[in-house]
Amino acid sequence: MAYEITIRKTENSRISSLDVENIGFGKIFADHMFVVDYDGKTWTDARIEPYGNMELSPATSALHYGQSIFEGMKAFAANGEVQLFRPIENWKRLNISARRMVMPEIPQDLFMQGLNTLLDLDRAWVPAADGCSLYIRPFLFATDDFVGVRPSEKYRFCIFCCPVGPYYSKPLRVKVEEDYSRSAPGGTGYTKCAGNYGASMFPTKKAQQEGYDQVLWTDPVTHKFVEETGTTNFFAVFHDKIVTPELDETLLAGITRNSVIHILKHLGHTVEERKLSVQELKDALQAGELKELFITGTAATMIYLEGFGHHGTYYDVIANGNHTISNQVKDLMESIRYGRGADLFQWMTRVEAMNEVPA
Ligand code: COI
Repeated sequence: MAYEITIRKTENSRISSLDVENIGFGKIFADHMFVVDYDGKTWTDARIEPYGNMELSPATSALHYGQSIFEGMKAFAANGEVQLFRPIENWKRLNISARRMVMPEIPQDLFMQGLNTLLDLDRAWVPAADGCSLYIRPFLFATDDFVGVRPSEKYRFCIFCCPVGPYYSKPLRVKVEEDYSRSAPGGTGYTKCAGNYGASMFPTKKAQQEGYDQVLWTDPVTHKFVEETGTTNFFAVFHDKIVTPELDETLLAGITRNSVIHILKHLGHTVEERKLSVQELKDALQAGELKELFITGTAATMIYLEGFGHHGTYYDVIANGNHTISNQVKDLMESIRYGRGADLFQWMTRVEAMNEVPA
């Protein structure tokens, strides 16, 4: 279905102030945003507007009862074009989150047309420099002004974009978290709801006060098995295999995680998706069989870990390890994303010029 999207362009483009050498992450916003409202029955008033503040009632229910979900995705400058990385996977995951949070699902055409129209307009904001990209933030939140716990009737879906460099500027040290849980059986761990991130901040702050960069969450029942970090999925490279925690309702199904598994298998590595205990990591490290730990996420892309802390002891993985496998995967991933090599798995979607957007 074709949606009518009205476009109000900015009269004050900020593109000339973009300093690609100093973009950091999440601080600079492209000129426009896509907005569409759900009135309780249908999606209405799809529009592109200049990026800017929104007026909301103080009673906006997303602010009180947490019906707020989001996605993170990226576009790359590749051979003079703008290419989106696996956008349909983000659309699917957004709707998985929407179902769990009793929010309306976004139709695929609305998501893709909004995205394409926005990125076509702001294509100059996709930085061409190596390691840089346009981070895209689709999000959906409840807009009823009502006090009381029940699903909102009205919602707003928006997309804005940030030109970004690396999320992490250096390899991380993570603390294996056993006192707090990110998620629980029957909970919302597999969704990208805002509350998952809000609840993670206290344990993360404590870990940072102890000298770590991030938490490595463990399963909420026994705290013996690793799950994911505060911002990414997790991989461990053993001498003969690569293991990543299996997905269940407490883990986020990372699109980068899935892509990395594809690439690892394509490169001939053995990948196991299964439970991975902290004890197994410690035993393998002691036996010299743990070669590398790395993490994957849209924002973080791929980065290796220096080591992990458990029960007050620091386990230095990089001292006798390396980052061969994460580098190998990253190289192939980047050659696909930046169009330096073939799009081996048909992951890239070209942003069409607007007059070519399918009707
Ligand atoms: C992403 O990787 O896109 C996320 O949403 C996580 C957050 C660290 C930005």
